[in-house]
Amino acid sequence: MLQTIPSPSPVPPMPFVQAGPPMLAIRDLHAAYGQSEVLHGLDIAVAPGEIVAVMGRNGMGKTTLMKTLMGIVPVKSGSIAVDGAEIGALKSHQRVAKGLAYVPQGRMIFSAMTVQENIETGLTVTNERRVPGDLYEMFPVLLEMKGRRSGNLSGGQQQQLAIARALASRPKVLLLDEPTEGIQPSIIREMGRTLKKIRDARGLSIVVSEQVLSFALDVADRVLVIENGHIVHESLRADIDEAKVARFLSV
Ligand SMILES: Nc1ncnc2c1ncn2[C@@H]1O[C@H](COP(=O)(O)OP(=O)(O)O)[C@@H](O)[C@H]1O
Ligand SMILES: [Mg+2]
Repeated sequence: MLQTIPSPSPVPPMPFVQAGPPMLAIRDLHAAYGQSEVLHGLDIAVAPGEIVAVMGRNGMGKTTLMKTLMGIVPVKSGSIAVDGAEIGALKSHQRVAKGLAYVPQGRMIFSAMTVQENIETGLTVTNERRVPGDLYEMFPVLLEMKGRRSGNLSGGQQQQLAIARALASRPKVLLLDEPTEGIQPSIIREMGRTLKKIRDARGLSIVVSEQVLSFALDVADRVLVIENGHIVHESLRADIDEAKVARFLSV
């Protein structure tokens, strides 16, 4: 007698399970430099407390995405919402007030200013006048060096300073553009731990662009790959096919 054995139904790729509305919602985002469109309709949703790595080779659009989110490059079309509020038409400082913070590629700290003065530049949208103690608790080396000229810090210390400055505005979403660039491998691991600690302590969402796969695997809950201004691959950290992502990143 023939028996029908129920065959296992093919498991569809599981979308990231978002427990509620996203903290950052990017919909059909297009951005251009003059006539030259660089982002061709990106859709990215980041859950509260989620860390998403956006990976891609040089010139694929990572920095343009960050700058478009921050209002440095204008939105051509599409929308950006932070915690439900549309921000795509706002000026940069207004976006910071709505909860976005940014650690630019190359860190861009003010090297002639002291460590403390650099962090204070991040306080503009809060009513705080002084650097909150919890920032120095998170980065003890910055407390030690708060009176030093920032240009004298090591690359890793300058990266911590750039992150502390971004956190000074008490963001809901922290954006980091290639934070490991020019940083020693041992310090890169430490930075990964620090970012997760910050996420756990503050409950904020993090979007980090990266080319270093090991770092992304260390920190991210989800990995996206951007190629020529399109998201071409997406995977939860837990299900990631490392070889496949590595192929996207190899020149
Ligand atoms: N200011 C600019 N004006 C015109 N084109 C630019 C500008 N900045 C970047 N691009 C172009 O946009 C594309 C994406 O660059 P970018 O976002 O910097 O990539 P990534 O950060 O991934 O290296 C590249 O083709 C680059 O040449
Ligand atoms: Mg870049």
